[in-house]
Amino acid sequence: MNIQVNPLCVKLCESLPVLSSVSAEVKQICTYSVKVNIIELAPSEIGSFLSSHQSELIKVQFPLLSNVYTYQALTELSTSPLPLQSQNKFVITYTQDGQHQITVPYVNLTRQQQLQLVMDNNNIPLSYEQIGHIAHYNLRTPVQLQFKNYIGLCTISKTISTVINKTESISNTFRTFPFELLAGAPNYIATTTQNGYKFVIDFENVYWNSRLEEEHKQLLNRIIESNLNKNEFVFDATGGVGPFAVPLGANKIHVLCNDLNEKSVEFMKINVNNNKVEQYVTCCNQDSFVLLKEILTTPFNNKQVKAVILNLPELSVDFLKAYRNTGSVFEPKFYIETFTRQKELFKEDIIARIVAARKGFGIIHIDLGIECENEECGCDQFKTEQLKTNISTLREWEGHFKCMDVRVVRDVGTFKWMVCAEVQFDEKDAFWHQRRDLK
Ligand SMILES: C[S@@+](CC[C@H](N)C(=O)[O-])C[C@H]1O[C@@H](n2cnc3c(N)ncnc32)[C@H](O)[C@@H]1O
Repeated sequence: MNIQVNPLCVKLCESLPVLSSVSAEVKQICTYSVKVNIIELAPSEIGSFLSSHQSELIKVQFPLLSNVYTYQALTELSTSPLPLQSQNKFVITYTQDGQHQITVPYVNLTRQQQLQLVMDNNNIPLSYEQIGHIAHYNLRTPVQLQFKNYIGLCTISKTISTVINKTESISNTFRTFPFELLAGAPNYIATTTQNGYKFVIDFENVYWNSRLEEEHKQLLNRIIESNLNKNEFVFDATGGVGPFAVPLGANKIHVLCNDLNEKSVEFMKINVNNNKVEQYVTCCNQDSFVLLKEILTTPFNNKQVKAVILNLPELSVDFLKAYRNTGSVFEPKFYIETFTRQKELFKEDIIARIVAARKGFGIIHIDLGIECENEECGCDQFKTEQLKTNISTLREWEGHFKCMDVRVVRDVGTFKWMVCAEVQFDEKDAFWHQRRDLK
């Protein structure tokens, strides 16, 4: 049902304050009214009438009333005295021009219909992320921002009591983002589930993304299938509140789960306890650049590192710099999630960046013919032409990996993809230990 934008609702809703429940004013003004003719028909006439008057019929799709039931209901209602209230779902009155006016109260409109009262379909936000009782929007268009608190109010439901809008993109070290409250209570401690485990999250202060459930599951399965023994452990270098560590612990896999954010570690510990995996998961609050150097050379609790999860896309590859001058003898498998801007040559891009980080940048730049001395390893560092012209060098480098598998996980923007690389280095191969500087 396409509802007409209603100027009275527009006026009220563009200046709406942050509300926790629908105010009497919204209930009174934000209703939907439509004028119809109600025709009394004998049951035997309904079928032929519907088929011969298709174009004039309004398909009334009010919640809880199917189309057929609505036709039937309206036919029955036309014979009843007016005004008439049908189980509070809608009210029918006569109008002066002899028609009937059906008015549907705010609470009986769907979220889509409530929003149609003030904006066109193109501006209605299609989805939001739900984290426990919190709904999280990324509102962008001027119309969405004009009606942001009304959008929030329409989202409040039995399961959602806080609605927020991201105001700036993620840019800080802890991968949190600024947001504003649109509706409901400012309560940002949420409880949610992922892959069958319960997580408590302080959404204001820690990183969490509910949409990554499937992606996390794929990575978890790969580690679980690699059959670690009891003398081996997984290092989750940027573990957040524990979406990898908790399921791994529940599969009796030992994990050292680290995060630089103190708040993340506070909630990581809560989640480890709640899911009863304390025996398997050790929580830690350090810089993984430092910690990685240590665990690559020294056993932790008499266990050797067997797998390393690097799940901070902007920096994941750079963490491999920790290898320099360590003389590591362990050969863990690295699960690296990172971004690429190379659609076809994504594998080559990742190889170049991993080799660059692992060995030091100078040699890579010389071999790929790039005049660049800076030590930053960004997604844009290697250009398509450079990768294409040096494809044989890249193939040769690929040969030095003990194992190398790169898969695209998803699109993250125009010309930007998330990839997951699984790599292992052969520590006996001199290639990984040679480093030639630029000059
Ligand atoms: C993209 S989030 C991923 C968190 C978690 N793996 C998840 O999927 O929910 C990256 C995490 O890395 C942490 N972080 C950033 N820099 C770090 C560092 N140098 N050492 C350890 N953790 C770091 C952030 O606090 C954040 O929790």
